[in-house]
Amino acid sequence: MDDNISILRNGISRQMIGVGTYKASAEGCMEEIIHTAWKLGYRGIDTAEHYGNESEIGEALRTCNYKREELFLTTKIWNEDHGYEKAIKAFERSEQRLGTTIDLLLIHWPCPMNGLYEETWKALQDLYAEKRVKAIGVSNFKIHHLEKLKKLGGEIPMVNQIEMHPFFIDWEMLDYCRKNDICVEAWSPLLRGAEIFH
Ligand SMILES: NC(=O)c1ccc[n+]([C@@H]2O[C@H](COP(=O)([O-])OP(=O)(O)OC[C@H]3O[C@@H](n4cnc5c(N)ncnc54)[C@H](OP(=O)(O)O)[C@@H]3O)[C@@H](O)[C@H]2O)c1
Repeated sequence: MDDNISILRNGISRQMIGVGTYKASAEGCMEEIIHTAWKLGYRGIDTAEHYGNESEIGEALRTCNYKREELFLTTKIWNEDHGYEKAIKAFERSEQRLGTTIDLLLIHWPCPMNGLYEETWKALQDLYAEKRVKAIGVSNFKIHHLEKLKKLGGEIPMVNQIEMHPFFIDWEMLDYCRKNDICVEAWSPLLRGAEIFH
């Protein structure tokens, strides 16, 4: 997987292909998933507070004898935790459940109806400035949401994790992110195993 490297705007590098863990805990085999993935050479793990599996991932990692500097762990702030203080607390809870530091912290959804994503972003900017995370980003943000974050000043997202697979490619977003040096990360890249394999 040596060519499988992506470098973020701040110079942090990580594997381009990672392991998604959405609904993985429903199978009750997180340890097997993490151990197998690690053995196969995967070093990036994507989770979220909303997936309810951070503790299981933390436990699986501990029994995996992993090297922390090799691991790249992503988690996300859930919709109910928008707002400055709530976001910081949610981050701390995630860290505790995972039992290690978080490399990339994302805002899971912009939730424009709550009107708090800019405030939430300020919390992420501060966590990054305090070196509590290696990188910060967002997920499911549209261009106009990203433009609002730009107007706040300071760091803009290093990553936008969005739905993307061969049946759905948002070229406008890709172009915008390329111009703004935002790394686009695809979720459901395999369309959850649907028609894509035909
Ligand atoms: N930020 C967000 O809002 C957001 C949203 C969704 C996902 N995500 C992240 O992105 C990750 C990946 O997305 P995803 O889990 O939704 O979907 P995905 O990676 O597109 O698809 C995963 C599923 O595809 C099926 N699959 C994989 N290889 C297959 C094969 N060779 N043949 C047949 N089926 C195959 C499997 O289904 P079976 O389990 O049925 O075998 C597998 O569970 C998630 O785990 C999560 O970490 C983020």
